[in-house]
Amino acid sequence: MTSRPLVTLVGAGPGDPELLTLRALRAIEQAEVVVYDSLVSPDILALIPAGVKRIEMGKRCGKASARQEDICAVLVRLARIGKRVVRLKGGDPFIFGRGGEEALYLRQHGIPFGVVPGITAALGCAASGLIPLTYRGLSRAVTLVTGHLQQGGEFRGWSALAQAGQTLVFYMGLEQAAVIQPRLLVEGCPASLPVALIESGTTAAQRITTTELGRLTATAATLKPSGPVLMIIGEVVALRAELSATLDSLAVA
Ligand SMILES: C[S@@+](CC[C@H](N)C(=O)[O-])C[C@H]1O[C@@H](n2cnc3c(N)ncnc32)[C@H](O)[C@@H]1O
Repeated sequence: MTSRPLVTLVGAGPGDPELLTLRALRAIEQAEVVVYDSLVSPDILALIPAGVKRIEMGKRCGKASARQEDICAVLVRLARIGKRVVRLKGGDPFIFGRGGEEALYLRQHGIPFGVVPGITAALGCAASGLIPLTYRGLSRAVTLVTGHLQQGGEFRGWSALAQAGQTLVFYMGLEQAAVIQPRLLVEGCPASLPVALIESGTTAAQRITTTELGRLTATAATLKPSGPVLMIIGEVVALRAELSATLDSLAVA
């Protein structure tokens, strides 16, 4: 894109403001309007300079949320009156964030746009939870999956997801635990496969619950999350206990 962007799709990362990129921070500081989605943490919203107009437009499971076409229309309308707009999104704009649709809409309407990547929840939560997503001998691939697998027709990829030697990271997966557990078990995953459920990863409210695939639905039913939850499934989850213990013993020494 050659012309100066009027709209910049900015990834805000998983919540901790320290995980914003320098480019994201600069875009926020130079914006005239910030259109932000519901996942953006209060600590990051606090970085928007006073006097900059803020518009909340986002989507949140189980809560009233803006329609995608309305969000796109607002971005175009603001750009057409010459505003420098930041479209601020949780994590990375192009990972389950509808950033692709928004970029395409802007392109189709002739609005110059830019994209600033953010740390996606999988990377932020894994680091914060001490779960290496790949590990020699345990996991040679990572698959990012949406929990809304049946949208757009029957999902036929369960056997690929059940292949050994990989880590699965389910976004929006908590509400689908009762689907994910039996489908992976039927495809041959062991009931003992470790699972981590990470709520509000990287923030002060982070809460991590570990369980096994065979108990996933029961464990998910006990959680009453007040923030977003990420599900990590794979042998690498078991490394968390060892890595946390190592840190504890270092702290004591
Ligand atoms: C619509 S997706 C947006 C993902 C975002 N674009 C990203 O790259 O992280 C929302 C889902 O991301 C996950 N998520 C986002 N931020 C999270 C966080 N701080 N802790 C745990 N899960 C998070 C949850 O699974 C949530 O339901």
